[in-house]
Amino acid sequence: MLCFQKLLVQCVFLKVICLNDDYKIKVPTSMSALKGSCVVIPCEFSIPDHEKYTESILGMWHYDWAEYVSHPDSSKVVTRFKKRTALIGDLQKHDCSLKIDEVKVDDIGPFCFRFEVPGIVKGSYFKHVVLIHISDSPGAPVINCLPEVKAGVDLAVTCSVPHTCLTNPPIITWSYTNGTFAVYHNKTGNGAWQVYSVLKFVPLASDHKSRLTCTAKFWGGKQADTSVLLNVTYRPKNVNIEYKESRVKEGASIDLRCASDSYPPASRYQWYNVIGDQTLRLPQTSATIYVHNVSRNSRAFFCTSQNSEGLTNSTTVRLNVEYKPEILSESACTLDITGQLTCQCIVDSNPPPEIEWCVSGSNLNESNTGLKSFSINNSREQQNTVTKVLQGWVPFTGNPSCSATNTQGKASMSFKRPMSDLYIYIAIVVAAVLIIAIGAGLCRLRVKRNERKKQDPKIAFVNNYEQPKPERNTETQDDVMNDIYENVQAFEVDEDIYVNVNANK
Ligand SMILES: *[C@@H]1O[C@H](CO)[C@@H](O)[C@H](O)[C@H]1NC(C)=O
Ligand SMILES: *[C@@H]1O[C@H](CO)[C@@H](O)[C@H](O)[C@H]1NC(C)=O
Ligand SMILES: *[C@@H]1O[C@H](CO)[C@@H](O)[C@H](O)[C@H]1NC(C)=O
Ligand SMILES: *[C@@H]1O[C@H](CO)[C@@H](O)[C@H](O)[C@H]1NC(C)=O
Ligand SMILES: *[C@@H]1O[C@H](CO)[C@@H](O)[C@H](O)[C@H]1NC(C)=O
Ligand SMILES: *[C@@H]1O[C@H](CO)[C@@H](O)[C@H](O)[C@H]1NC(C)=O
Ligand SMILES: *[C@@H]1O[C@H](CO)[C@@H](O)[C@H](O)[C@H]1NC(C)=O
Repeated sequence: MLCFQKLLVQCVFLKVICLNDDYKIKVPTSMSALKGSCVVIPCEFSIPDHEKYTESILGMWHYDWAEYVSHPDSSKVVTRFKKRTALIGDLQKHDCSLKIDEVKVDDIGPFCFRFEVPGIVKGSYFKHVVLIHISDSPGAPVINCLPEVKAGVDLAVTCSVPHTCLTNPPIITWSYTNGTFAVYHNKTGNGAWQVYSVLKFVPLASDHKSRLTCTAKFWGGKQADTSVLLNVTYRPKNVNIEYKESRVKEGASIDLRCASDSYPPASRYQWYNVIGDQTLRLPQTSATIYVHNVSRNSRAFFCTSQNSEGLTNSTTVRLNVEYKPEILSESACTLDITGQLTCQCIVDSNPPPEIEWCVSGSNLNESNTGLKSFSINNSREQQNTVTKVLQGWVPFTGNPSCSATNTQGKASMSFKRPMSDLYIYIAIVVAAVLIIAIGAGLCRLRVKRNERKKQDPKIAFVNNYEQPKPERNTETQDDVMNDIYENVQAFEVDEDIYVNVNANK
């Protein structure tokens, strides 16, 4: 009411005609503005014969009496609005929008548009004034309600904030840097606008529980932000079997827990026992299982963790099952052709065993027996086997025996010396000696005969063939032997015959 009275007084003061319905204007009756920022009052007007006056029409804004907020003659603008206002609309196009920058708390209006066509017509739209509500701080931006956020699936998040400063709208930024965003400016009416920023990105499992913040920076420096906690659903990851004991005795029991990281939390588990190359599915479906009677052969387990997003297998764990040493039946002694004895004591044991060889009932004494021993770890490419080898050339009496000890117990085994091999060895040696002896004898005879042949080889041959027996008797023993040899050679008789002849003599 007070305001209306004021306007009537103004009307009188400014000596203007009261505008009839041919003088049209469209302005908001009230709008808001942010202190320190800017505000644009949208304005559209129309006067009779508007097109005729386009060249000369002037526009101005005032408040109260003749207090000009904006005027083509800037000297007429009141001090407190100087250099802060601009009539940004194009009057020829009916646009009379006013911009006020660096908005102050008392820039509340009411603001009134006035036009003047010099010497023809002028008037203020007193019935259509604009009131401005000044806010000290900006409103918080709003992030739209997020749909389900799935790891690895494209996501679009919208953040919006209202403002009334079309020329310098707020700038929206996101805390998420690895994404793209698009900005939209939508008119909401009465000089108000809404800025939308649509962020597009692919959320990762690692973004779960992270805060997504949208910040709006307003013209003039003020800013406001808002954030949401991202609930990213993802299939279980880091699936691991956890257990307390670093080692377990064979036959004992153990608790295994299938631990995983997932959102939503895992709802189902599956357990598997790997035995050799077979995978056995266990009936349990809980996160923790109790395994009875663990054994060295069934010590490998893996689990599967499942939630609404899928399932993931853990890596296979092999429990450290401890058991007393076992000397495998493949352990044996052999003797090779050179006479080297090799004994292998193959032990399956966890923890690793101490293996000792005993020879003739006492611990191996290298200087005594000439036998050496050494170990090979994980021989036969099998875990937990150690082979201790006993090796040497020197013959010895007594049977070797091997004993293996670990924290879980002891095992021992006696070995028979490979006797059949030894016989072969002796036979080979005897045969070798004989051959060498014969070879040596033959060599000697051959040398002597060759000496005689050099004297008269042809005659000797004829003589040998036709000579009567009595003459032979006169010869020396060596000659006889030589003659017989010649005969043997002539008739190509086997060398063994010669040996017999020689022996008979
Ligand atoms: C960024 O996003 C792209 C795909 O949207 C992805 O391939 C890339 O690994 C991401 N980089 C970082 C550092 O997260
Ligand atoms: C904002 O404007 C854009 C483009 O003009 C339009 O696609 C979008 O739907 C609008 N948003 C709202 C909430 O009106
Ligand atoms: C994420 O989950 C928490 C608790 O489960 C909930 O308070 C929050 O509103 C959720 N956030 C979103 C963006 O859905
Ligand atoms: C434990 O398992 C072994 C074979 O792995 C079996 O011989 C033994 O009987 C089992 N003991 C018990 C108490 O189930
Ligand atoms: C998980 O293990 C099960 C059982 O061995 C197998 O059938 C399945 O293919 C595995 N899944 C993956 C993803 O490796
Ligand atoms: C090994 O045998 C030699 C000779 O018999 C003996 O002197 C030495 O004390 C023995 N060593 C051990 C460790 O028994
Ligand atoms: C065999 O394993 C034991 C421990 O398990 C280690 O001390 C030793 O050095 C290994 N020997 C060889 C030949 O690898």
